[in-house]
Amino acid sequence: MQQPVRIAPSILSADFARLGDELRAVTAAEADYIHIDVMDGHFVPNITIGPAVVKALRPHSELPFDVHLMIAPVDPYIADFAAAGADIITVHPEAGPHLHRTVQLIKSLGKRAGVSLNPATPITAVEPILPDLDLVLVMSVNPGFGGQQFIAGQLDKIRALRQRIDSICAAEPGRRIDLEVDGGINVETAPLAIAAGADVLVAGTATFSGGAAAYAENIRRLRRGNAHGSP
Ligand code: DX5
Ligand code: ZN
Repeated sequence: MQQPVRIAPSILSADFARLGDELRAVTAAEADYIHIDVMDGHFVPNITIGPAVVKALRPHSELPFDVHLMIAPVDPYIADFAAAGADIITVHPEAGPHLHRTVQLIKSLGKRAGVSLNPATPITAVEPILPDLDLVLVMSVNPGFGGQQFIAGQLDKIRALRQRIDSICAAEPGRRIDLEVDGGINVETAPLAIAAGADVLVAGTATFSGGAAAYAENIRRLRRGNAHGSP
């Protein structure tokens, strides 16, 4: 079942010199998750933050930390991110040789496990272990940077995953698997992603624009999934 739409601001577009303030501002603005993009300059062509920063941010918000690991190898760092305060840990299938083992490692640490699919990665990369997951993240841009353009071809992948997730959850009452989309989400593309079946929207640029006073309205407009601003 598609759940109510939740918004996960990506702090990649926040002011890195004031990250604690930025977290408090989006938390007050009724964000649902804090999306933290971890990049290693190897799996993706950019370097961002590590577990020490996640740990330093932890006291600044009670929202779930949705940690998106774009690093390879990924297994050696999962325990560090779990200890730093991650609630959801998402990995890419290409980041290690044994995706099922990686997912079990995340779950063994008491964290929710997610798998992220790059634009060129098919759903077959995750399908055999979908019942083990708490979240699937569809990349609607190539990972590495904020502010890129939404790749509309990924909507088919979201639709296909929505069907599969619904059939797993129908067979197991109370089961929940988030279907999250990441990259190029704005007031024009949010409605497309929601209509395709996404129920968590990552939004960096679209959340962190206009200064802290605008965050609540930015988030409301994305959640509404309506490009024309009607209630
Ligand atoms: C890209 C990251 C995204 C990115 C989204 O590799 O995974 O989370 O920050 O940024 P926007 O919303 O600006 O496209
Ligand atoms: Zn991300």
